[in-house]
Amino acid sequence: MTQSHPRISKAVIPAAGLGTRFLPATKATPKEMLPVVDKPAIQYVVEEAVGAGLTDVLMITGRNKRPLEDHFDRNYELEEALVRKGDQERLAKVQESSDLATMHYVRQGDPRGLGHAVLCAAPHVGSEPFAVLLGDDLIDPRDPLLCRMVEVQEREGGSVIALMEVDPAQIHLYGCAAVEPTGDADVVQVTNLVEKPDPGDAPSSYAIIGRYVLDPAIFAVLRETQPGRGGEIQLTDALQKLAADESIGGPVHGVVFKGRRYDTGDRGDYLRAIVRLACEREDLGPEFRNWLRSYVTEEMQGL
Ligand code: UTP
Repeated sequence: MTQSHPRISKAVIPAAGLGTRFLPATKATPKEMLPVVDKPAIQYVVEEAVGAGLTDVLMITGRNKRPLEDHFDRNYELEEALVRKGDQERLAKVQESSDLATMHYVRQGDPRGLGHAVLCAAPHVGSEPFAVLLGDDLIDPRDPLLCRMVEVQEREGGSVIALMEVDPAQIHLYGCAAVEPTGDADVVQVTNLVEKPDPGDAPSSYAIIGRYVLDPAIFAVLRETQPGRGGEIQLTDALQKLAADESIGGPVHGVVFKGRRYDTGDRGDYLRAIVRLACEREDLGPEFRNWLRSYVTEEMQGL
């Protein structure tokens, strides 16, 4: 049990991937900037970090980083135009993203994998535990996860990863965890991790999803981690070393998430995220739901 370390305040958001699953939309635009209803996916992620009390945000960006930085910066021209029009409502929307958090950026250079992206955060993070939120992984704002992970890390020390039970036929698409139960129904001890296991080799159907609270010992391990699956430096491989030897950086726990989560880098999940979040919106929902109902009825009638 470690209770003496300072409260976690830093969030790292890797957003330097190539986004090849979403080409050609992501040829010149980061996939994290694709809108989910009327906000770019990345804004939901930053809002989630802030909601969990993490107000220092470091984004790991790549070559097409400009739109990401611009989105979280002031846009004086636009703001002045809205002030002149007296459009307070839209002015507030424009200012919201630039007032959210203290934003920092570092470029990854070559996208050599998620593990390498996280390693780029080492000088900024220093020696405190920190959170990692994948920029293309959207956790429904109504289903808090990160707060619980921070709570578990502050109680248990070490690192905490987010797990979700998936259909065993889909586990080869994820990092997969071997686990043992703990006294908390939603918390497990992680004993082994495998990145995208071949069917039959998966130790469980617990998939790693894109939220982590990490002990800074991960950096030294990442420096030693060789490229793994796909020729990329895998965060899962480094976490596996932590899970196998508690003396490196404490235990690895998993928080089992049962809420709504969307991989906005996947076209099908992206569409599902938009439909679900649009349905719940007070301004758009009622009309959109009516349209959706009649659309589904037509589909079911084979029209
Ligand atoms: P993905 O596995 O989704 O890879 O990365 P990708 O390259 O972004 O997308 P596809 O598969 O080609 O469509 C998971 C997360 O890790 C980040 C991505 O931006 C995403 O948030 N990442 C990945 C980096 O920051 N750097 C990398 O080198 C790789």
